[in-house]
This record gives sequence, C-alpha cells and structure tokens, in this order.
Amino acid sequence: MIELKKLSNGFEYLEIQNDFATAKIALQGAHIFEYKRSGEDDLLWLSEVSDFERGKAIRGGVPICWPAFGLNNPELPQHGFARTSLFELVSSSEIDAETTEVKLRLTHSEDTLKLWNYKFELVFKVTISDKLTMELTTINRDEKGFKLTQALHSYFKLSDISNAVVKGLDKKLCFDALTDGNGIQNGDITFNQEFDRVFQKVENELILKDRDKTIKIDNKGSSSVVVWNPWIDKCKRMSAMKDEAYREFVCIESANAFEDFVIVKPQKKHTLKATIEFF
Ligand code: BG6
Repeated sequence: MIELKKLSNGFEYLEIQNDFATAKIALQGAHIFEYKRSGEDDLLWLSEVSDFERGKAIRGGVPICWPAFGLNNPELPQHGFARTSLFELVSSSEIDAETTEVKLRLTHSEDTLKLWNYKFELVFKVTISDKLTMELTTINRDEKGFKLTQALHSYFKLSDISNAVVKGLDKKLCFDALTDGNGIQNGDITFNQEFDRVFQKVENELILKDRDKTIKIDNKGSSSVVVWNPWIDKCKRMSAMKDEAYREFVCIESANAFEDFVIVKPQKKHTLKATIEFF
C-alpha cells in the first residue's frame, strides 16, 4: 500500500506499508520520519514536539542536509535548503509484497537559484523492506560545476543513550565541533556528555549497539560520518525537542562533509547511498 496523506494544514506525506515494514515520508524535504519493521519498534527517532509545517524542518527521522552540511557553505542556511523544500513524487512502485520503492525529486527554482545559483536535479530513492535503503543522487543541470557537501542525518531511536555504543570509528581522524579542533578517535564511542564529531576517511561499515538491537550502517559515495548527541544543555536550547529528548536518540549521519566534499561537473551526477540493517 502506498497512500498520499494530508494533515489539516495541508502538509503532505506518503504512507507505505508492505509485508516487512511501514514508513512515512514527507514531501517536504523528502523527509523519512517513520520506518519500522512489522511487529517491531521504530528504528528512527521522531521528536514528540516536532513541527509538521511548511518551511520548518521535521525534528527526527532522516533530514536531508543538502547542498551543504552544517555551515560548510556559510552563504546557505544551516544544513542547506533541501530539508524545507517541497519535493515532487516521481514514482512509487510495489516491487513485490515485501519491497516498496519511491522516488522523490527537487529541481532548481527561482527560490533555490536565489540561495544557490546552480541548476540541479536532486533525486531521492527510498527502498522500504526489511532494511531501509536511501539513495540521494545529485545531477548537475548547469553549465558550471558545483561543490557539494551533504548528509543523510539519521536520528536513531534508542532505549536510552547510556546503552548506545558506536563501533567502527576507532582511530579515525575527526573534527570535533565542540573544540573546533582535529583529533583521532580513541576506542568505540559511548555517551556521557555532548558529542559532535565529523569523522573522515571512513570506508568501513558502522555498528550502533543498543540494549536489544544492533544497527548496521553501510555508506557508499561518502567517506565522512557525523556522530552527534546534544546532551543536556544543548537539548534545552534546541527547537522542537523536549528537555529530556537527548536520552532517546543518537544521530549517525552518512555524509560528504568538510574535506570529503564532492565536485559535480555539468551534466554529471553523484550518489550518496546509505543502507540501514538491524538485527
Ligand atoms: C548535526 C550537527 O549534524 O546537526 C550539530 O553536527 C547540530 O552541530 C545538529 O546541532 C542539528 O542541527 P539542526 O540544524 O537540525 O538543529
């Protein structure tokens, strides 16, 4: 089943259901804000107080940060403009009883050209099955090349932040946004304070362990990974987040950030792909 639904304020989203999983994807931002396998808990965290309103990013799920991660391009809003732009549904197909595929697209407009003066096509293909597969393809439709940073900013739901362990980043180079300095990660990551690091040269799979589940993240077309939890003080300052919400999630973002930027030449494309499996 694939249904286009609308909230009373006109905010539209797709609801998908097959034998393996259900998902909800907003047309604004092509934002996946729910994904769960049949009979299981949500994989993605969604803030109880998130906005679902034109022009405001959903807090939780998988925001698409594009064409800039964070403030990598200081001329653009934080995390770019895709997450608050309205995508169009290009296609949706029930491949079999267990697999549904949807494609959404954003193209340049007067508004985007004012912010970022390039013609583009951005296609997000999501495959909903017993795993979640996301493919973000940028096509350059301009006569000049452009530089891109981006992220699939996944918020993973946790039993509690004290149970979370991120594996696969030991000894990796990282930029620590809290100290504004570079360093090397020492060991697996656990959380007992604010954490905001961008890891570089990550070619391997990552594992997130929670109390009762293990999540495997496989990224292609990218070699940077952002790990973020706001902890107590930042959580209080953040929009659309309850004070205690930092306990409920960790973000592990599949990214092309900082030195891992991408240059897309005219008429060429680049795909960032993340496959999320869990056991
Ligand atoms: C992360 C950044 O990617 O996104 C954090 O590393 C930031 O520094 C977080 O706080 C959330 O950003 P926003 O714009 O959604 O509040």
